[in-house]
Amino acid sequence: EVRSERDQIVELLTRSANYYKAQLKQSPRAVQYLKNRGLTGQIAARYGLGYAPDNYQNLESVVDDYASNALLDTAGLTKLSEQNSRRYDRFRDRVMFPIRNAKGQVIGFGGRVIEKAEPKYLNSPETPVFHKGHEVYGLFEARQAIHKKGYVLITEGYMDVVALAQWGFENAVATLGTAVTPDHVQKLFKQTDRLVFAFDGDGAGQKAAWRALQACLSHVNEVKRADFIFLPTEHDPDSYVRTEGPDGFEALVAKALSLSDYLLRQVGSQFQVQQVEGSSAAVAFLKPLVAQVQPSVFRSALVRSLADLLGMTPVELSSHLGLKRPVGE
Ligand code: CTP
Ligand code: MN
Ligand code: MN
Ligand code: MN
Ligand code: MN
Repeated sequence: EVRSERDQIVELLTRSANYYKAQLKQSPRAVQYLKNRGLTGQIAARYGLGYAPDNYQNLESVVDDYASNALLDTAGLTKLSEQNSRRYDRFRDRVMFPIRNAKGQVIGFGGRVIEKAEPKYLNSPETPVFHKGHEVYGLFEARQAIHKKGYVLITEGYMDVVALAQWGFENAVATLGTAVTPDHVQKLFKQTDRLVFAFDGDGAGQKAAWRALQACLSHVNEVKRADFIFLPTEHDPDSYVRTEGPDGFEALVAKALSLSDYLLRQVGSQFQVQQVEGSSAAVAFLKPLVAQVQPSVFRSALVRSLADLLGMTPVELSSHLGLKRPVGE
């Protein structure tokens, strides 16, 4: 029986995930690290967390012939040394987060250092089974909770997902250190009608939120909505839920800013909309953004609110935005 390369890679990744999981039990240091971050064994098991020991050839134990198994490289698990062409493990002395696809198959890993070291996170490279740009960490694990809660929480990091789950928000996922793409948004809107973005409170998180808004524009309407949680500067969802508790986080979800309010707020703060120069510059800024929104009840309502903010009639603004279907008074 001939198995596809894809299947063989997934098998290597699965065996490695099982190996890392078993190693976690053997490493009091890694277990203590996860405990210090507020995680129980139950949640670690739910996400299949593991530990890659501090050795260069850990994965010798998951294959028959490590030295000649080039598929390990293709799977992103190993690399060849430039000096002596010897194969060695990519992940060493890291807490391991397996990344699963929609079927629950392991397709890659993220690994976090325990002590301070760089890079803090190491991810699988692009492989035949792992494409960072359209994978969403935690989606397989979160699916049921997303349907039950009626929304999905989108965060930046592995730890945000796992910590939120620990505190009862099992409906959390993360993009893998990449900006949210329309591809991600489409994938998530297949699961639920409400996306709630919860990025880090720092500048990078705020930038990520704005990019997420842009990625959402072509998908939102009166049924599908996106909301944004803005955390205090020093927090991310993990640190926030641990200090403020689940009720604190729930309160943030309840008063999340809608995409339209976020857009209005952004326009209002970036432009002096009372002035001719400000309001006309705002129209130029808005044109490519509103152009992405599908004609819908939502778009009409948005244009009406924007027109109000800019001191124009909706008909005027529609015309300036080049909308084929102008919004009436
Ligand atoms: N990231 C990455 N490589 C890095 C740093 C970050 O891939 N060198 C990705 C990871 O997916 C990480 C996310 O970006 O989870 C967010 O980064 P950051 O906020 O710096 O990390 P946290 O998730 O907060 O990590 P921790 O709480 O474990 O320090
Ligand atoms: Mn893919
Ligand atoms: Mn960050
Ligand atoms: Mn963090
Ligand atoms: Mn963070």
